[in-house]
Amino acid sequence: MNEFNVGAFNDALLSWYEGEKRTLPWREGRDPYHIWVSEIMLQQTRVDTVIPYYENFISKFPTVTELANADEEDVLKAWEGLGYYSRVKNLQSAVREVHANYGGVVPNDPDEFEQLKGVGPYTKGAVMSIAYDLKVAAVDGNVMRVLARVFDIHEDISKQKTRKKFEEIVQQMLETAPPADFNQALMELGALVCKPRNPDCTVCPVATECRALQTGTVYELPVKAKKAKPRQSGIHSAILVDENDRVLIEKRPSTGLLADLWQFPSVEEEKSLSAFLEERYGLKPQLQKEEETFRHVFSHLIWTVTPFTGYIDERDIADSSKETMWVHKDELHRYSFPVVHQKIKKHFVGV
Ligand code: ADE
Repeated sequence: MNEFNVGAFNDALLSWYEGEKRTLPWREGRDPYHIWVSEIMLQQTRVDTVIPYYENFISKFPTVTELANADEEDVLKAWEGLGYYSRVKNLQSAVREVHANYGGVVPNDPDEFEQLKGVGPYTKGAVMSIAYDLKVAAVDGNVMRVLARVFDIHEDISKQKTRKKFEEIVQQMLETAPPADFNQALMELGALVCKPRNPDCTVCPVATECRALQTGTVYELPVKAKKAKPRQSGIHSAILVDENDRVLIEKRPSTGLLADLWQFPSVEEEKSLSAFLEERYGLKPQLQKEEETFRHVFSHLIWTVTPFTGYIDERDIADSSKETMWVHKDELHRYSFPVVHQKIKKHFVGV
């Protein structure tokens, strides 16, 4: 195998990036806060999905100050449907710290930035390099796939040790490359050319440097341990409406899955929904089991939700608390719901 030619690799990659990079809203400026928001959104979500969320989020919370001062409910609402909601809660905590302790300016010291909530090695590298042009590696799944192929590395990319190895490789390559463009060029190559299933090796700018292509192992790479099968969970949910078109919603616990989002009162199907409604809310509605079930696939879990509808003609629970509310259907849009509950809401409440 030939000696790897870093100079040739970097030049080919960077000129390709210059010509082919996508126009993306977060590439229009260098505002570190904007780049930070985009990188958090992009961590578990595709670019196409992120774009409208990013634009809406930045128009609602254009600066560190606005996000720091925002009501968490409004912030969750702007994230509704993106999933992995702890991302945005951590982002808001971190931004509050930037507001309080750094005069609203995102620190340009990687060690300081990494101390902030929710900032791991990837976010640190992405924001520090893209916003401040600092030489810090930003290794995500795209980058690992590209490099696993370029260097014909067969180690399991879900292991921490493998990620560290890739970070070291990128760190070395950055010695002689412009960080903002180089890191983004690697990601862009992974997204547009060096794709998981159908890599376009014939148009790849670094094909001549790619060891997997020479060895014939492109389709075996990257190596990734199989994830455990998602667990199945059945949920029974109550859509209770009163005579004034108000609907009962409850807030999910503040830790764990979909923390702090709102939902229709729900229990795991092993428990009795009627008993729960009586114990928790003092309600004894006549429940009608609905035909249609609603599914949601999380990374580790599959929910199948069976809706039960009911009518409450006397509102005999204590008045709305912070965790439970009777909300008029025209006001439901203020609250952030998990995607399945959004579907149920649309289906049974019509909003
Ligand atoms: N994925 C995550 N961050 C990205 C970026 N800055 N450019 C392209 N793809 C990305």
